[in-house]
Amino acid sequence: MKIYTEKDYGALSERAAGIIADFVKKNPKCVLGLATGSSPVGMYDLLGKMREEGKISFENTTTFNLDEYLGLAPENQQSYRFFMKKNFFDKINIDIKNTFFPSDFAPNYEDYDRKIEEGGGIDLQVLGIGRNGHIGFNEPGSDFLSKTREVKLAETTIKDNARFFDKIEDVPKTAATMGISTIMKAKKIILLANGKNKKEIIKKAFFGPVTLEVPASVLQRHKDVIVILDKEAASGL
Ligand code: F6R
Repeated sequence: MKIYTEKDYGALSERAAGIIADFVKKNPKCVLGLATGSSPVGMYDLLGKMREEGKISFENTTTFNLDEYLGLAPENQQSYRFFMKKNFFDKINIDIKNTFFPSDFAPNYEDYDRKIEEGGGIDLQVLGIGRNGHIGFNEPGSDFLSKTREVKLAETTIKDNARFFDKIEDVPKTAATMGISTIMKAKKIILLANGKNKKEIIKKAFFGPVTLEVPASVLQRHKDVIVILDKEAASGL
């Protein structure tokens, strides 16, 4: 595991966008695993600018998103498909037919894992981390062998994500998520975390024991993980 500590969110986003851009330039037909949430927004924005300047092309790239709320229409502004369109897909030249979300496969979630495998597997997976250590929506206690499936969101996740909704009651209670084993099969993983509210979980996940109670700790067993932090998220190390 390689850990970068950047001076601020801008530098974190630049580091992440640089790694992804290099990767996509070398492997234009690559399969990317993508995350939503606040952490990768700056990175998506920079990649969009690189596309605008003609420095990169996503024409032959395929993407699989980590997760999606259940019970929200894709045009709902809080859906992750809407988030991805607004923050990334509309800014790049990807073929929208090559962008996939696990909720589209409900209830046959095993087809999502199969689709990923048929595409050659995920070459590079982008992750954020929840304050409770979740990756995707694999909440504490998730089996390390879990595959794509429907999950109940943890109370802490509902509280954290309420900031995007008018009121907490509007936050869906269930979601579809890649499983931990789905994520661990990615050939390369980049995890982004910023802000002081991530400081404790970063220490636990990457310097504590590997445990089901901290799902991200499983990444200690992956052979190619890059963690990119800002100073605040790294301040507990
Ligand atoms: C999002 C996802 C989540 C987030 C995590 C951190 O697709 O899978 O695991 O990465 O909740 O969210 P932010 O970046 O908003 O702090």
